[in-house]
Amino acid sequence: MARIQASFVCQACGAASGKWAGRCEACGGWNTIAEERAAPPLGMTARRATRGRVIALEDLKTEEDAPPRRATGIAEFDRVCGGGVVPGSALLVGGDPGVGKSTLILQALAAYANSGGSAVYISGEEAMGQVRLRAARMGLAEAPVDMGAATCVEDILATLAAGPPPGLVAIDSIQTIWTSALDAAPGTIAQVRTASFDLVRYAKTSGAAIVLVGHVTKDGQIAGPKAVEHLVDAVLYFEGERGHHFRVLRAVKNRFGATDEIGVFDMTGAGLVEVANPSALFLGDRNSIAPGAAVFAGLEGTRPLLVEVQALVAQTSYGTPRRAVVGWDGGRLAMILAVLDARAGLGAGGHDVYLNVAGGLEIGEPAADLAAAAALVSSLSGRALPRDTVFFGEISLSGDIRPAPQPELRLREAAKLGFATAVVPPGIKAGSSGLVLREVHNVDDLANLAGSPNRQARKAAP
Ligand code: TYD
Ligand code: MG
Repeated sequence: MARIQASFVCQACGAASGKWAGRCEACGGWNTIAEERAAPPLGMTARRATRGRVIALEDLKTEEDAPPRRATGIAEFDRVCGGGVVPGSALLVGGDPGVGKSTLILQALAAYANSGGSAVYISGEEAMGQVRLRAARMGLAEAPVDMGAATCVEDILATLAAGPPPGLVAIDSIQTIWTSALDAAPGTIAQVRTASFDLVRYAKTSGAAIVLVGHVTKDGQIAGPKAVEHLVDAVLYFEGERGHHFRVLRAVKNRFGATDEIGVFDMTGAGLVEVANPSALFLGDRNSIAPGAAVFAGLEGTRPLLVEVQALVAQTSYGTPRRAVVGWDGGRLAMILAVLDARAGLGAGGHDVYLNVAGGLEIGEPAADLAAAAALVSSLSGRALPRDTVFFGEISLSGDIRPAPQPELRLREAAKLGFATAVVPPGIKAGSSGLVLREVHNVDDLANLAGSPNRQARKAAP
């Protein structure tokens, strides 16, 4: 008789091991390992191996055009997908609980159905009544979306197979879906992986585009994430800070498009509203000017985005100075401070330093270094930066300012929003933007421009 094998699988990263441990050796997570019956290979129940069949090999040339897209009509969503969802593809939308994934997906389905497509919404979390109430609140009650509440993947597939394949199917959420082929609990890696695999296979064979909604765990991982991410064609994250009302949809993997696009939404009482001009939103109210604020002319995908970077440098009242960041990388802040100290004599060593990106946006672009450095110098000196100035440029360890990609796009966006001056790396042309450019070659130039307080003292010292 075959022995039933038990294996222990980390619920955060999916690593399997032969015995239980308090800490996962692969991802370092504590208390994430749970016992699971060894799953049969993906999508197969145990059966005897058959002899291989010869498949015809073909060349890379194609007569087919680029994949046709199904636009939902929600422009921000479609752009992040690369121009609409691709028939037969699978899309994973991840995000923290409560960020608005169900709202976004319901709106996308309703818009798609309203423009003549057939859309199916399978809710595994909320009862039909709850979904209807939400739809009514968002003014979508009349949209011809077919809705069902189910959690068993066999039921879902049987329901979908009973009619003609819909254009767009959403499963909300993948963590609640289970297959009767396994006896692991719903939400475990084995269940999520097997159910996702079956759903993705349905999409590939039927031509329906399928959207899987997945919750992200506290540390930013979709539970069972690695197991699902490689199965699907695109992974989108829906992010938003608690207490802020806008949300950013970001592609982190896309087999059919670019991954650096973002879509910006505003969460209102009646659902999500697309934000066509996010710069105005992220800049907020800039009527008061205080030291420590600098505007970064950034780029998200193909789209320029202006955001305010705020710094506070204050004498520390504890033994060890505090460094804290919001929307910024802590390591990068340490690097900028070290370069400013070493190359421009900033002298922030005994100070607490806080760096915040206004509006809860997350900045990953190195070109934001210059704006952060300007904000830090300005906060330390107590002199506000001119209100009509934007910054961009990468700071190297030598203190030099390096160019950033697509300067024209950034400058044009700044001009559109009423900025008159840009502090930039050397060698950039103002072009059609009409902005006055002030070149900075290194952090010393920047400190001169932003007025570092310690510089005179340092120069005077023997
Ligand atoms: P939801 O889509 O249920 O989040 P998720 O599916 O990601 O868990 O959104 C829940 C939050 O959104 C909830 O806290 C309330 C808020 N919300 C609004 O502010 N306005 C609305 O019109 C809707 C539907 C939700
Ligand atoms: Mg939900």
